Amino acid sequence: FKGKGNLKDGLSRVLTEFSQGYFQPNVGGKNIPVAQGELSDLAGDEPLFKALYKWFLESGGVFKLEFGPKAFIVVSDPVVARHLLKENAFNYDKGVLAEILEPIMGKGLIPADLETWKVRRRAIVPGFHRAYLEAMVNMFGRCTEETVRRLDRVLATNSNGKPAVVDMETEFLNLGLDIIGLGVFNYDFGSITQESPVIKAVYGVLKEAEHRSTFYIPYWNLPITKYIVPRQVKFHRDLAVINECLDQLIQLAKSTRQEDDIEALQQRDYSKVRDPSFLRFLVDMRGGDLDDRQLRDDLMTMLVAGHETTAAVLTWTLFSLVQQPQAEARVVEEIDRVVGDRQPEMADIYAMPYLRAALAESLRLYPQPPILIRRALGDDVLPAGLNGDPNGYPIGKGADLFISSWNLHRSPHLWKDPDTFRPERFAERFENPAFEGRWAGYDPELQGNSLYPNEVASDFALLPFGGGIRKCVGDQFAIMEATVALTMLLRRRRLRADGRPQPRNRGSSGR
Ligand code: HEM
Repeated sequence: FKGKGNLKDGLSRVLTEFSQGYFQPNVGGKNIPVAQGELSDLAGDEPLFKALYKWFLESGGVFKLEFGPKAFIVVSDPVVARHLLKENAFNYDKGVLAEILEPIMGKGLIPADLETWKVRRRAIVPGFHRAYLEAMVNMFGRCTEETVRRLDRVLATNSNGKPAVVDMETEFLNLGLDIIGLGVFNYDFGSITQESPVIKAVYGVLKEAEHRSTFYIPYWNLPITKYIVPRQVKFHRDLAVINECLDQLIQLAKSTRQEDDIEALQQRDYSKVRDPSFLRFLVDMRGGDLDDRQLRDDLMTMLVAGHETTAAVLTWTLFSLVQQPQAEARVVEEIDRVVGDRQPEMADIYAMPYLRAALAESLRLYPQPPILIRRALGDDVLPAGLNGDPNGYPIGKGADLFISSWNLHRSPHLWKDPDTFRPERFAERFENPAFEGRWAGYDPELQGNSLYPNEVASDFALLPFGGGIRKCVGDQFAIMEATVALTMLLRRRRLRADGRPQPRNRGSSGR
């Protein structure tokens, strides 16, 4: 290993964690109600976000969770969530999450500090333009065709009269990986049909990201761990495999660079472009950052952010639909009427509001991630919540906050029948009269042209893709991908549940 310098750096990072983040009781919020957690709650079988739901019902929309010397402020109130994500968003960074993800994503958009984020966000958002998304919709169709063929083969070999059992989460993960590889850097993982060292490495790294987001002491910041802890050794080997692959793709894109203004890039004829990928856009953009390291961090971030999340929403939507024959029948009717046997196009996605509402409803019930993580960069005063302290709570610099999308999405104060899967809820206005003139609920009128029911129509009660300045950049990509995949899968086939998917105990590790 590389000597004392690294070790000292690592030690000081872990010590900083201990003194600032992990053992810092003084984060203000003196008056905030406290829910006393047991350390065993963090290690038990039940995911943390489910324990947070029970405490939310007992302690209210803002409470403090103390595990020994460590404290988190848990927010389940839409007014406070809006303040943190939008109104005073520049006072918050990703805190614990950034420390967890930095070794994987570097200065990619998700963990990025605010300075880096401002520059990269401005470069990345224009890349998701209409012509790109249209090209993507065609690609989603081609990739899903492969999954459908695979499933049909499995069904055909299982012709002994019994229904074939398929692990749909794995199918969706493979589909999602192929799609994100082609869409982001024009690389065909081919994971629906084959296994490769790069695919194995991607899954290894994702697994480690998940492990880190549920492990509360960042021992991996100590450099020796990467030589002696077996899972760290494997993680660094996997990371090297992916980085080598990404570096080659970046070199290839740079060697064929055709510089242009953003507007010109957005008007390219994507039906004729050989490589419509996101990387191509970033490299060709006039004045863009061509630093290999930054490009690699951007690609890695998209790979991790856009893969498991979409697979999860597909798995949960399918699971929910097959248990609700009426909702399933409505979806199938919509697909038959709008698309039939054709490959879905962009216009079809807009013409299938019920299917999109079903996706949003499954994101409401099973948000991925269930918690958004923030840390205060300076002192702040949280606004009064819907039924909280009328003066609001002062919090201190360094305070760690968990905004629980899970709690917001299932709050009995904000939703009618919060635990029921009912896509039609998004066509109805729901307002809780208990809040005396303060708006809390959902209003379809406010959804406007958005492809899915969102934080605007619910005033931060629904955060499937977050909200405010750090809202997901891949939201449309994801909804379009999921709509195409479900369209092609649900026609012609009857699927039934043979088990229950497991919610993952993650923070916003995927994003
Ligand atoms: C951010 C969810 C798909 C790229 C986020 C955030 C959420 C989210 C909740 C906000 C995190 C926070 O505020 O802490 C999802 C879900 C997806 C999905 C549920 C699929 C159903 C994608 C895809 C991509 C992507 C397909 C890329 C192709 C990103 C990036 C950010 C992000 C780069 C960080 C944005 C920033 O900080 O400026 N996502 N995402 N996501 N997502 Fe997604």
